[in-house]
Amino acid sequence: MTESTPANSDITINELGGVTAIPGLLSGKVAVVTGGGQGLGLAMARSLVDSGAKVVLADMNEESLQAAVTELGGDGVATGAVCNVSDLEAVEKLAEAATTAFGGIDIWVNNAGITRDATIRKMTEQQFDDVISVHLRGTWNGLKVATALMREQDRGGSIINVSSISGKVGNPGQSNYSAAKAGIVGMTKAVAKEVAFKNIRINAIQPGFINTAMTAAMPQHAIDSKLAEIPLGRPGEPEEVASVVLFLASGLSSYLTGTVTEISGGRNICSRSPSPRRGDVCVEPRRGGPTFPSHLCRGGSPDHREKRPDVPAGTSGRCRSVGSVSHLAFCVPAGTFQPDGRAASARVSFSRFACRAGGRRRRRPCR
Ligand code: NAI
Repeated sequence: MTESTPANSDITINELGGVTAIPGLLSGKVAVVTGGGQGLGLAMARSLVDSGAKVVLADMNEESLQAAVTELGGDGVATGAVCNVSDLEAVEKLAEAATTAFGGIDIWVNNAGITRDATIRKMTEQQFDDVISVHLRGTWNGLKVATALMREQDRGGSIINVSSISGKVGNPGQSNYSAAKAGIVGMTKAVAKEVAFKNIRINAIQPGFINTAMTAAMPQHAIDSKLAEIPLGRPGEPEEVASVVLFLASGLSSYLTGTVTEISGGRNICSRSPSPRRGDVCVEPRRGGPTFPSHLCRGGSPDHREKRPDVPAGTSGRCRSVGSVSHLAFCVPAGTFQPDGRAASARVSFSRFACRAGGRRRRRPCR
């Protein structure tokens, strides 16, 4: 251990065992966090401040902005700027304000976001444009302004763009959001290549299901089905996103640029369903028993299941007909189901569907 290395006791560790701050790691650095008034942005700002950075929060919501600045310790370490990230001029003013307040910018987090969910059938052009404007245009504005300033300062820098697992796998009801979040990945890689020669690093993160006000508002059945997809078996906490941002913001990631880090507890890992293990119970299909959604039975190949990673860990199976309805016979870890066939864990929740292919009932096994 060198003298400048903080003692272990100084490192902030949360109840999950996660490191949320490393005092001194970002001493002398200045960070901008957009959408920093609440949620993930505020957690990121807290982690950056606790690690020694001075932070400028940018948000449309003046009230939450002021409360957040106070919570972070007030003017000496944090300040707020009302800013709509969709407006390039406003983002330029934000950079000026940060430079005036703290003398430059070393870290910039493009985090501000909104959702306007609806299926493609019902989504309006306005809903599409609003989401694209905040996420895609907002991130582009942040990149344009931050890279210009960092190039001028000539002391390198780190920019973190907040994408989402939605941008990787596509979420039904979020064609606008998924498109914007996927676009952020391409944008991250393109601009990372443009400015790397100036030691300006640009990386993206893709949070999955994180406990925030946004996810708390979701209906219980949607929460259950998302939890069923997470190998770590729980939602993430905002601090667990913030700690990755801290890593990407700091010299701990000095050789990383153009990367995309999934923070999702393993959700949407594309892998084959694992073979049944010792202790697994075999659940035979039967009338009234647990059923799987039809999409698992369509396609007829194991690869199809790879494209639908919303199958619970430990599942392997094939289609079987029971009466007029096709079910998936499968093996699951012991305890997943109660003896009566109902799901014993909130991680497993399935609806009843028949297996169909091209409108005709499938009778043969899926694989
Ligand atoms: P949130 O709704 O709690 O916070 C978003 C903040 O952005 C708010 O303070 C809001 O006032 C601000 N904002 C909205 N539009 C703005 C604009 N045009 N200009 C400036 N500020 C604006 O959301 P949350 O959950 O903290 O999400 C933060 C980011 O993380 C978003 O980009 C979101 O898409 C992304 N994300 C969140 C996940 C989650 O599970 N909560 C999962 C994946 C990605």
